[in-house]
Parts: sequence; structure tokens; C-alpha cells
Amino acid sequence: MRVFAASTFAAAALLACLPAAAQPVHIPTKSEFYEKSLGPYVTSPQEVVDEMLQLANVRPGELVYDLGSGDGRVLITAVQRFKARAVGVELSDDLARLSTEKIARLGLQADARVINADVRNVDLSAADVVIMYLETDSNEKLRPKLEKSLRPGTRVVSHEYKVPGWKATRVAKADPGYGHVHTMYLYRMPPVKD
Ligand SMILES: C[S@@+](CC[C@H](N)C(=O)[O-])C[C@H]1O[C@@H](n2cnc3c(N)ncnc32)[C@H](O)[C@@H]1O
Repeated sequence: MRVFAASTFAAAALLACLPAAAQPVHIPTKSEFYEKSLGPYVTSPQEVVDEMLQLANVRPGELVYDLGSGDGRVLITAVQRFKARAVGVELSDDLARLSTEKIARLGLQADARVINADVRNVDLSAADVVIMYLETDSNEKLRPKLEKSLRPGTRVVSHEYKVPGWKATRVAKADPGYGHVHTMYLYRMPPVKD
């Protein structure tokens, strides 16, 4: 017991001497991660990414947020093809790191970045366009935050899953050619209620 107390004290003393950046961070356990997760990692095919950004009528210089940005393809397309600026929010540390590296390799870091966080804790009020590929119940959980924080005129496009309680202003389809036709729902803030 005394050995434990002494070693604990020594470890605490050592930690106090370390600069903040060198101190251990809390690594979420699997169950903590899944509690926060609003959807699994599944990529949107490139045809769908193009169609979502077109449906939102993204214009040069506008700010696009992808809620759950995965490998960063929506951000990269928004910057390269639509000349927009883009912010991704990604819960997974690995995906956030990999997509940040990809953005840097492509030299797009002035216009695109990834925030490694739970989207529920991120301020979205600067967005002109919000893209999401989550799940219906996740969209429902996010709805109050979107209604509260997004400015009038902001466009929201949800891939495959509706936002319950909102009426889509347009619905588009994309067929990547492998037997599943993808559906996308466009909403404009403030949303028309169902
Ligand atoms: C279906 S994938 C979509 C990836 C990308 N947007 C696309 O369309 O290709 C959903 C992403 O949301 C992320 N995610 C899940 N819950 C999240 C949360 N609470 N905050 C931020 N990202 C989250 C997942 O890690 C995953 O990368």
C-alpha cells in the first residue's frame, strides 16, 4: 500500500513538472465513443458529394460545414470544384487526423480544416451551407441546435436521411451505378415545418 502511495505521489509530481502539451490526454473508451456517435463511417460516393453541393447551390467564397466529415471528401470537393471554404467536424481522432493530412497534402489548408470534436459542441453559426450524412434519429437530435444556431438563408443538405419535422424544399437523386440510388434532401433556414 505504501509502495502504491509513494509511486502515485511520484507520478503526480512528475506530471506536474511536464509542460501541458506533454501531459497524457483522455483517450475515449469504445463505449464513450459510441455514446457520442451520431452515425457510422460510410463515405458518400463522389457523384453524391457533387450533387449535394450542387443542390445547396454552393457559391465561391461561401462557408460549407460537413457534420461528420469522415475522410474529408466533401470539404475537398467544396474547395476544389466550388471554390468555397470548408470546415469539417469529425468525432473520430483517426479520421480527423487523416483528413487533415490529406487537406495539407493537397495544399488546401488555407480554405479547409477539420475540427476533431462532437458536432454538438461546435458553433455552426458561421455556416452558409451544412452537409450531413448521419441517421434519422441523429438528425432529430441535432434539429434544435440547427434551428437555434443557423442563420436565415443557410441551406442544409442531408444525404439519405430526412430531418424529422422539416419539409424539404427540394429532393435530388444520384445514381453511382451500383444498384442503389441515393436521395438527398435540401432544407432552407428557417425550415418549413412538416
Ligand atoms: C456516414 S459518415 C459521412 C462521412 C462524410 N460526411 C461523407 O459524406 O462521406 C458519418 C461520419 O460522422 C462521424 N460522426 C459520428 N458522430 C459524430 C459526432 N457526434 N460528431 C462529429 N462527427 C461524428 C463519423 O465518425 C463518420 O465519419
